[in-house]
Amino acid sequence: MSERETWTSRVGFILAAVGSAVGLGNIWSFPFQTATNGGAAFLVVYLVAVFLIGFPVMLGEFVIGRRSERNAVEAFRALGFGEWSIVGGLGVLSSFVTLAFYSVVGGWVLSYIVGSVTGGYLGDAGAYFGTVSAGPIAVAAHAVFMALTVAIVALGVTDGIERATKLMVPAIFVLMGGLAVWVSTLDGAGEGYAYYLSPDVGVITGDLAGIVPPAVGQAFFTLSLGFGAMIAYSSYLGRDDSLPADGSAIVVVNTLVALLAGFVVFPVLFAIEGSIPESGGAGTAFTALAGAFSQIPGGRAIGLGFFIVLLLAALSSSISLLEVSTSFVADRTGYDRVPTAVGLGVLVALVGIPTALDTGVLGWYNDVVFNLLLPLSVLFISLFVGWVADDQLAAELNLGSSFGNGFSTVWLWWIRIVIPVAIGGTLLLGIQSLLVKAGVLAAPIVLG
Ligand code: TRP
Repeated sequence: MSERETWTSRVGFILAAVGSAVGLGNIWSFPFQTATNGGAAFLVVYLVAVFLIGFPVMLGEFVIGRRSERNAVEAFRALGFGEWSIVGGLGVLSSFVTLAFYSVVGGWVLSYIVGSVTGGYLGDAGAYFGTVSAGPIAVAAHAVFMALTVAIVALGVTDGIERATKLMVPAIFVLMGGLAVWVSTLDGAGEGYAYYLSPDVGVITGDLAGIVPPAVGQAFFTLSLGFGAMIAYSSYLGRDDSLPADGSAIVVVNTLVALLAGFVVFPVLFAIEGSIPESGGAGTAFTALAGAFSQIPGGRAIGLGFFIVLLLAALSSSISLLEVSTSFVADRTGYDRVPTAVGLGVLVALVGIPTALDTGVLGWYNDVVFNLLLPLSVLFISLFVGWVADDQLAAELNLGSSFGNGFSTVWLWWIRIVIPVAIGGTLLLGIQSLLVKAGVLAAPIVLG
């Protein structure tokens, strides 16, 4: 077995983790979820979920990874709890399913970069989406996106992932900041900001049960929790890093990118439509934005910049999803990374084909991930950290940290009590929503 790699620097780890976190979730789903769930009201619930639920769970994955220096499956065995490897197995499986459809959406982004250059979506944004979102073009673009993902992962942790994210993450920031400044000059930008930032508090108090589960799910997804990606990344860490400090930096930067995305998306939408589009599923973001880019001054250039940012964000996330299974197979079998990453990439690409042929199937993959796999995995990880693993994990949090024992004690109790209760509730509502969608339940039993 070859020697395990480690990040070359602390910044390298932080950028890789930020790259994993910042993705389609931040730039594609977040502004639209905010738009359809009461604007700034959703934002508040989301921020609470990110900092009070997501952040402690992230630290939980970090201590598992750094303590064990193993991939998500074998980490549990290395800590002395072999039977919990099944939780890591669930993570590997979930990362597979997630990457399968994530890559298809990544393929859409590629098609929209092409469309910005050729002007393909200028005439009829809806028709363009129809052509590229499902069918042979979607399959081909999905294959290209997977190939890019595989190429980076195959190069290794430092030469592939670390080097790529060191370039991509700063580029995302610079481009997105530039776009936000540019679109602030559009007519209608003011209305866009007003919509984005004024809370419709009625939505929250009226439909808490409808808002909290998506906000919590979004918090887990955007922080790349549950599927062992952060376990894998932190397993390449040295002991002298402060996990709470690194984790805070990652969470804050990830949140800033999501907020910044809103400052790009809302002025663009309000410049043309004068309002936000009705939520119409996965494609709304693409059709609504492409429609606006076709009409505003300089729209194609803004569109090109926007879709390039989206591609960089998607790629720096997809590599972490592939790393979960790649590190497992490579650690376990001692196979070289290159054939491992290629083999797994081909497998994921095949699993994704049904979602590239039918956006309805893609919606199903997405719903199963958000409503079931994500909360379930996070619940198991929290229970493991809080109740199963012994003191070694709380002690691990203190290593290299200046936050002190008080912090790790509060953290441990928080993860024992508050987090399982919060996720348990989210999971029940999520399963209920899946059953209602599948027609098994005629109507929700708990809350409306
Ligand atoms: N966080 C990414 C996003 O917001 C998606 C992602 C990457 C992810 N790795 C993950 C989600 C691991 C869950 C688990 O787009």
